[in-house]
Amino acid sequence: MSSADIPDIPVEARAGVHRGPLREGEWVRLTDTKGRRHNFELVAGKRFFSNKGHIDHDELIGREEGFTVTASTGGEYLVFRPLLSEFVVSMPRGAAVVYPKDAAQIVAMADIFPGASVVEAGVGSGALTCSLLRAVGPYGKVTSFERREEFAEVARKNVDQFFGTPAGETHPNWSLNLGDLQEELPRQQIRCDRLILDMLAPWECIDATADALYPGGMVCAYVATTTQLSRFVETVRAHGGFTEPQAWESLVRDWHVEGLAVRPGHKMIGHTAFLVTARKLAPGQRAPRKTRRPAPGAYGPDYTGPRPADMPAPEPVAEVLPEVGSDLD
Ligand SMILES: C[S@@+](CC[C@H](N)C(=O)[O-])C[C@H]1O[C@@H](n2cnc3c(N)ncnc32)[C@H](O)[C@@H]1O
Repeated sequence: MSSADIPDIPVEARAGVHRGPLREGEWVRLTDTKGRRHNFELVAGKRFFSNKGHIDHDELIGREEGFTVTASTGGEYLVFRPLLSEFVVSMPRGAAVVYPKDAAQIVAMADIFPGASVVEAGVGSGALTCSLLRAVGPYGKVTSFERREEFAEVARKNVDQFFGTPAGETHPNWSLNLGDLQEELPRQQIRCDRLILDMLAPWECIDATADALYPGGMVCAYVATTTQLSRFVETVRAHGGFTEPQAWESLVRDWHVEGLAVRPGHKMIGHTAFLVTARKLAPGQRAPRKTRRPAPGAYGPDYTGPRPADMPAPEPVAEVLPEVGSDLD
């Protein structure tokens, strides 16, 4: 089969990927022998410059990806279309992005399915948006909220670039809204299957989330610190309209595999964020009471956060002061 006969991915799939020869207007990723990467859009007649000389875009257009090209002063580059996981860590950022390892967890563990109606906030740089749009497919819908206009603009450009959306158009399965999620959800009367929160204070969105999710739907929060994790989980518990929240983090370690030298890689991303999921109960329903009691002191006098309904605050213990004139004077 010649490269010209390779069928492209159907445009209706909205995959953000092409097969077959590289074409003008597509983005490519060049990787040098030291692993340094350069991403750029192919434009006929244009030149790519680096410290290893230049390469004409016309040398790349029309070729099957996965080849080595030599720059004018001898440097070699491997040429591929960027994968989504490569694109999101190299694209321009407004806010911190959800890393690919966590996006994969969100898609799998928050059960993002083809045809789903998914809400996310904040959109930040649009990294997670790309994974969500891919996972819901052409019959699904992703509704994104962002309170900061300048971040929404960055996200729009990144999503448009990845999916190759024509200028002046928006990905047909995406709507990007400016505003605070907790205000916009009730105002727009949105209902959804899955709701993903990646923001500083996701607990502020729990009431609006509970009203928006269909029974059986899922909320998933991505939080960076243990204090956020605790506050979010306890707010979900105290709300009462969800199942017991599940919290976890994922650690991914590369391995070096070379002959007899098979060992863990020296570097890893130690911490990105924690994930929490919970499912929405039917209206007026409560999850069965937990049979296991919380750890002693978990909700003791020093705990000041939100409390589950069956865990009232303990009576304050009166402080015993020594009597005036006692031996302790
Ligand atoms: C860490 S970024 C999100 C990154 C994004 N998920 C990504 O993968 O690129 C958090 C964003 O949430 C936005 N934000 C915070 N609270 C919000 C709220 N209540 N409603 C909408 N956006 C909010 C912030 O402006 C910020 O852009």
